Amino acid sequence: MTTVLVTGGAGFIGSHLVEALLAQGERVRVLDDLSTGKLENLAGVIDQIEFIEGSVVDAATVRRAAEEVEVVYHLAAIASVPQSMAEPVQTELVNTVGTLNLLQAAQAADTRRVVLSSTCAVYGDEPTLPKIEIMLPQPKSPYAISKLAAEYYCRVYCESFGLETVVLRYFNVFGPRQDPSSAYSGVISIFVDKLAAGIAPTIFGDGQQTRDFVFVQDVVQANILAGNTPQVAGGTFNIGTGRQVTVQHLFETLRGIFECEVTPLYAPGRSGDVLHSYADSSQAARLLGWQAQVTLEAGLKQLVESYKL
Ligand code: NAD
Ligand code: UD1
Repeated sequence: MTTVLVTGGAGFIGSHLVEALLAQGERVRVLDDLSTGKLENLAGVIDQIEFIEGSVVDAATVRRAAEEVEVVYHLAAIASVPQSMAEPVQTELVNTVGTLNLLQAAQAADTRRVVLSSTCAVYGDEPTLPKIEIMLPQPKSPYAISKLAAEYYCRVYCESFGLETVVLRYFNVFGPRQDPSSAYSGVISIFVDKLAAGIAPTIFGDGQQTRDFVFVQDVVQANILAGNTPQVAGGTFNIGTGRQVTVQHLFETLRGIFECEVTPLYAPGRSGDVLHSYADSSQAARLLGWQAQVTLEAGLKQLVESYKL
């Protein structure tokens, strides 16, 4: 049995990954500062994991967390574009310096591989669609810059320091446990939370901006493949469904699932917002054997069901 480290393991995506790794028989350690994550996300497995409460910004804590770890799944980050606009320095510190601390600690611990949770936000408004990995990044928020810098550090550690790294550029992830409670939360979690209470959600801009929504269990599977597939070190992979959905259509689909009559409010578009995004994930299919399995409609129904529990 090997030990794996999940940073950000008390968060939305991280907690699902922890459960899947345990189910595969891994020994799991989690490093999380509980800034947006919650211990209750790990309630079902807390007795089976080693939990370290601390920040990736603290190099000594990260060194301790990486000891005797074979694979690191690095998810800890400030994940919100608008939060990064409000707190650019803190975003750089957590997302970029935190990743560098992690890479340094992993190398010192003889870790085999680090898998970075990066983002399609690095593409910005480069007009080519769908997005492919070889496009020149055009970050348009501090969040996107911080993740792109983290990607470059991963590449340098792979090419020049001999540590295997794999970068996953998730598109917009959704599913149970995505926290709806903040203005910085993901759009699906906010819309579901509001519609469940019969309250009108707000659409920023005209609703014609697009995203590629990928279900959390598919993202978990991508991580496990990225951690274990031979000969993909140094690779960067889009993780999306290949389907382009407007925020307006998302709202209408959810309204249909809730069978309600609510009409949305409209507010000015958010600065830093990417306009259009969807993935070409054929490289992940070819080299990782990964493909999204869950459709938006099936994932939304599952999410709404879990919400009623
Ligand atoms: P989340 O906020 O639920 O998870 C982030 C976790 O990291 C939380 O548990 C939080 O407490 C922890 N964390 C934050 N700062 C930390 C620090 N300094 N030290 C230790 N832990 C810290 O968000 P999520 O949606 O689960 O995102 C997970 C990762 O996936 C992030 O790296 C995010 O940038 C990336 N990502 C998410 C999406 C998405 O649509 N949700 C898309 C692309 C990439
Ligand atoms: C999300 C992720 C980010 C990830 C990126 C990849 C979160 C909090 N952010 O950012 O980590 O890297 O996907 O693309 O998970 N919107 C509304 N009304 C709302 C909230 C949002 O109209 O109440 C709109 C936004 O203006 C945006 C779209 O919905 O156009 C998506 O917003 P959001 O869910 O915050 O995602 P991203 O900013 O794409």
